[in-house]
Amino acid sequence: MKIGFVQLAPVLGDPDATMQKIDRLIQDKTADLLVLPELCNSGYNFRDATQAREWAEEIEHSGFIRFLEAKCSELDLHIVSGFNEMAGDHLYNTAVLVGPEGLQGKYRKIHLFMKEKDYFHPGDREPAVFDLGECKVGCLVCFDWIFPEVWRILALKGADIICHPSNLVLPGLAQSAVPIHALSNRIFVVTANRTGKEGDLAFTGLSTIADPRGNILLQASGDKEEVGVVEIDPSLSSNKWVTPRNHIFDDRRPELYRYLVNSPPDSPGAEGRLKSKGKEREGNR
Ligand code: ACM
Repeated sequence: MKIGFVQLAPVLGDPDATMQKIDRLIQDKTADLLVLPELCNSGYNFRDATQAREWAEEIEHSGFIRFLEAKCSELDLHIVSGFNEMAGDHLYNTAVLVGPEGLQGKYRKIHLFMKEKDYFHPGDREPAVFDLGECKVGCLVCFDWIFPEVWRILALKGADIICHPSNLVLPGLAQSAVPIHALSNRIFVVTANRTGKEGDLAFTGLSTIADPRGNILLQASGDKEEVGVVEIDPSLSSNKWVTPRNHIFDDRRPELYRYLVNSPPDSPGAEGRLKSKGKEREGNR
């Protein structure tokens, strides 16, 4: 199976121009599964909430989704893309999975980054796994990368490949962490990042494909629009043995992990949750 990223700079507020770029980059069937960056139909750095809404689309009426469906049908492949989704009165930062038969699934970003908190509702559903026949895929979106819990949920649900549309701005952090998430969950990961600048934000490129041993199979440049594809055996992800006596799922001790979901109200984690709702905090920007 061939999997890859399409690294490009979506054009802010101009989905037609973005679709032309994608069309140019995906001319032939070079892969079975391709991943595009986050918020590919709209761009990222909105002036305000009004602009974020103006450039959102409902999945049912989206020209961008129809374009992806046509591409998938023409080239017999699957595409995962970031999508600025309007659903009812809410906006979500979504990843859509499209195949030759149309839309096959979606995931709404759970962990919103910086100003996204002013525009989007956080995802309201647990990460899901979708069966493509030759493999199972899950999706995460950009800043989700820093939360090990969601990687683990997808691995436990049987994901072979995690597709990770991104608009990364913190230099090198996610690109260093992604192979580690691949290793600790014994899965493949395709991080499709974007390039270019929008206002005060510079995006970091270096789209990455990692394997279940944590090897970087392929990494893009920091600044070019490019497609990167590797051939993999997705069944390698079903081997969760690290040594003949260590299995990453069976050796877990969930009875000792209850603090993860039941930390008491006065714990440092609870304090963090309260503070991050109300205040800006020092970060590693
Ligand atoms: C990000 O979540 N777009 C950094």
